[in-house]
Amino acid sequence: MTAPTFTPADLQRVPGAALPDLLRRMPKAELHIHIEGSLEPEMIFQLAQRNGVSLAYPDVESLRRAYAFTDLQSFLDIYYAGASVLLHERDFEDMAWAYFLRAAADGVVHAELFFDPQTHTERGVPMGVVIEGLTRACQRAQAELGIHADLILCFLRHLSEDAALQTLEDALPWRDRIIGVGLDSSELGHPPSKFQRVFERARRLGLHAVAHAGEEGPPAYIHEALDLLQVERIDHGVQALQDEALMQRLVHEQIPLTVCPLSNVKLCVFDQLASHNLRQMLEAGVCVTINSDDPAYFGGYLLDNFQQTVDALQLHAQHAYQLARNSLQASFVSAAQRQVWLAQLDACCAQALAS
Ligand code: ADE
Ligand code: ZN
Repeated sequence: MTAPTFTPADLQRVPGAALPDLLRRMPKAELHIHIEGSLEPEMIFQLAQRNGVSLAYPDVESLRRAYAFTDLQSFLDIYYAGASVLLHERDFEDMAWAYFLRAAADGVVHAELFFDPQTHTERGVPMGVVIEGLTRACQRAQAELGIHADLILCFLRHLSEDAALQTLEDALPWRDRIIGVGLDSSELGHPPSKFQRVFERARRLGLHAVAHAGEEGPPAYIHEALDLLQVERIDHGVQALQDEALMQRLVHEQIPLTVCPLSNVKLCVFDQLASHNLRQMLEAGVCVTINSDDPAYFGGYLLDNFQQTVDALQLHAQHAYQLARNSLQASFVSAAQRQVWLAQLDACCAQALAS
């Protein structure tokens, strides 16, 4: 029997009522998730108790009430405080496993997890504890949930480049566990140019490279990330629309943007989801993907980001298909694995048309 075929334009026939089910069933890759940002308040308190760490908030509700952010920095202050409960391998494993359970329910087939080793090594937690714990959860996700997962080591840009270089050297015993490096934390005042040497070293080690740019920072930071750090994807990048030449470059070179709609609203990059520029960028031909960033802090995991964005921007099944397809295209998996998931995505959409 031949596989069902369809063209994306056929998806116009999928009724809006069928979209939630399609969004969930489509195989998707999540390419922008800070695993420390998946620590739910309940788990923060559970780990604090298990590890004897004291918190600045008396209970889960008061911590959750503090999640009223005005910008990136106001979030990062709380996010780093939350990560202070992570001490042992099992803590990192439990955190990532909880994420994978959510991801499986959302139809995620592949996840590239960002982690911030400096947040932990600065507190005296060894690099090996972080990487071994996360690796165990990744292996379990593959074995028990069928989710493929990789790790991307992020440098904290508010710290020095020398500290980033040292972090990369410290991670080398686990080189085979890491597929790439990234750049995150406070963007304004910390341009990509500050990290040129460490990204060059990472690339010479054969690691992939990505960087947060144009979340709050100007389009010039996106240019720098592409030209000086030679990144393969831009994390966020929503400020690109201010720069016509940059937009043309993103489209022409098909440089993926890992956009995080709920994060952008929570951190006041857009005043509401309906004002987000995702649809405009997608329709302009940019390789836009949808991701959750720090789901425990921003009000939703991957499927929530998809569903709420589809509703707010009145996206159709064809947009949803393109977004899922982009996520698979932009991932760092092998070409053979990508083809398998792309075929599954097409089969899933063909089935939606047939029913
Ligand atoms: N670290 C965790 N989430 C982040 C974000 N949205 N931007 C920059 N650094 C981060
Ligand atoms: Zn991020």
